[in-house]
Amino acid sequence: MKALLAIDRGGVLERFEVPFEPGQSVLDGLRHLRDARDPTLAFRYACLNANACKECMMLVDGKVAYACTARLEPREMRLAPLPNKRLLRDLAVVLAPADERLA
Ligand code: FES
Repeated sequence: MKALLAIDRGGVLERFEVPFEPGQSVLDGLRHLRDARDPTLAFRYACLNANACKECMMLVDGKVAYACTARLEPREMRLAPLPNKRLLRDLAVVLAPADERLA
């Protein structure tokens, strides 16, 4: 079975098939995609699935979610960067307020 990730990349929707296994997360799909298909795909994560770093927040099917805890499903899933943050590239945005960032 496959999952289809439809990723908003600078306003252009790009669709990628990724392998699907029950229990995988959206982040698992993104990591597979970056390893196997597109090393330029930008997204953030740090703790993988501890739900501790909050780095992986994005829109999953239009709702704010953690990619590491959102379940990958065998259908098309739409991924987009958080709309209210400064976009770095693809799904990566600036999360920390300017006064909390290191120089
Ligand atoms: S990767 Fe840390 S909360 Fe998702």
